[in-house]
Amino acid sequence: MRIDVLTLFPGIFSGFLGESIPRIARGKGAVEVFLHDIRAWTVDRHGKVDDRPFGGGPGMVMTCQPLVDAVEAVRGMDGDPGRLFFLTPEGRRFDQPAAREFADAGRLILVCGRYEGFDERIFSILSPERLSVGDYILSGGEVAAMAVMDAVIRLLPGVLGSPGSAPADSFTGSMLDHPHYTQPAEYRGLDVPGVLRGGDHAKIDAWRLEQALARTRRFRPDLLARSSDG
Ligand SMILES: C[S@@+](CC[C@H](N)C(=O)[O-])C[C@H]1O[C@@H](n2cnc3c(N)ncnc32)[C@H](O)[C@@H]1O
Repeated sequence: MRIDVLTLFPGIFSGFLGESIPRIARGKGAVEVFLHDIRAWTVDRHGKVDDRPFGGGPGMVMTCQPLVDAVEAVRGMDGDPGRLFFLTPEGRRFDQPAAREFADAGRLILVCGRYEGFDERIFSILSPERLSVGDYILSGGEVAAMAVMDAVIRLLPGVLGSPGSAPADSFTGSMLDHPHYTQPAEYRGLDVPGVLRGGDHAKIDAWRLEQALARTRRFRPDLLARSSDG
């Protein structure tokens, strides 16, 4: 997969891309990530990429020219035009089914906003998909883009060390994950459930399923209601 990220702050991504799963995935060639500084496309001689809002009010708005030129140029850098996403609060809510869907795309282009967001005409010109990571306001799209990348990259074939772990994750079906335990077998008087130490894998599977169901009922009953509706 190829992922292009357009941002005013490419430096934000260096730790994220250089550690853990994204680093491993890049090392294995499962994903290539290209960072593009939107400011490189502005024709403004002072390097401006934002301006005051028409109609007044606080904050600044990202201007059309640098963004439209940047997206058009970046899109043309590969034969596959990919799926173009603008990270923005009014967008489709990103979730695990969306991560699964995006993992099947050959290319993603993620555009990060700043300030009060984008001049609305940019959407008319580029017709991107709008994507939100939840009902809260971040200072910029970079953290949102990292959430999307992280969730997608771990689903790419060959990326996770143990191939079994992604299908059991929460939200993959209609349930949360089951509880996990590791060494020591006893800690501060709390024992690991005996079934997990008994070696009977059929019993372990049945216990995990039952626990996953109980946790889903307790913490996220809406997931079960949603799956029975559908
Ligand atoms: C401060 S926010 C702008 C918020 C905008 N004025 C509003 O109320 O909808 C700046 C940028 O952060 C990003 N952003 C903030 N919250 C987000 C969210 N929940 N999902 C995706 N991107 C978000 C977007 O790229 C947005 O353009």
